[in-house]
Amino acid sequence: MQRADLVKESELFFRQWLRSPRSVGSIKPSSRALARAVAEAVLWQPGRWVVELGGGTGAITQGLIERGIPRDRLVVVELDPELAGYLRRRVPGCLVVEGDATRLDAILAELGVSDVSTVVSGLPMVRMPFAFQRAIVEQGFKALREPGTMLQYSYSPVPPVPARRLGIRAELVRYVLRNLPPATVWRYRRATT
Ligand SMILES: C[S@@+](CC[C@H](N)C(=O)[O-])C[C@H]1O[C@@H](n2cnc3c(N)ncnc32)[C@H](O)[C@@H]1O
Repeated sequence: MQRADLVKESELFFRQWLRSPRSVGSIKPSSRALARAVAEAVLWQPGRWVVELGGGTGAITQGLIERGIPRDRLVVVELDPELAGYLRRRVPGCLVVEGDATRLDAILAELGVSDVSTVVSGLPMVRMPFAFQRAIVEQGFKALREPGTMLQYSYSPVPPVPARRLGIRAELVRYVLRNLPPATVWRYRRATT
């Protein structure tokens, strides 16, 4: 991506943050280092789907594509209409859905997507109400088929959701210093497995 495009992208991200700081959750897109760390933790097998929640301007989506996940096996859900429109232009060939990740089950049913191997959440979770955190975790696990994995990246040094209360375990898989602010990548597992 050209430098001028990167600047425009950062400006768009910042503008959307000004409009909706809680839901955008960060003043700038994720770094390439974070995108690579997330992409490396993804479980993908030919023919299966990867779902990204909170695509923003596509920093993580791009990392997933560079990791080799085919665009036509990537579903990206983004709440913000302007960001969703931008994403459609930035990553043509991916299924970009303007929608609410708490409705993931319905969104995937409408798309006819069923064999999901990884759900990656970039949603800001830490300061969200428990009902939102529970909806995202439940919808994420509901979408997955075995073997499957749910990932979350965050700026939190501790698990970004109250794992025990949600009946899951949050395992730290990567700590990424080359991101502003430094980020963590978590893998959620059901507490019983
Ligand atoms: C921290 S940003 C991450 C953006 C991008 N993935 C990145 O890493 O640069 C969180 C994104 O989640 C989106 N978002 C927030 N709540 C959402 C929801 N309920 N459903 C879908 N997307 C949501 C925001 O609009 C924003 O684009």
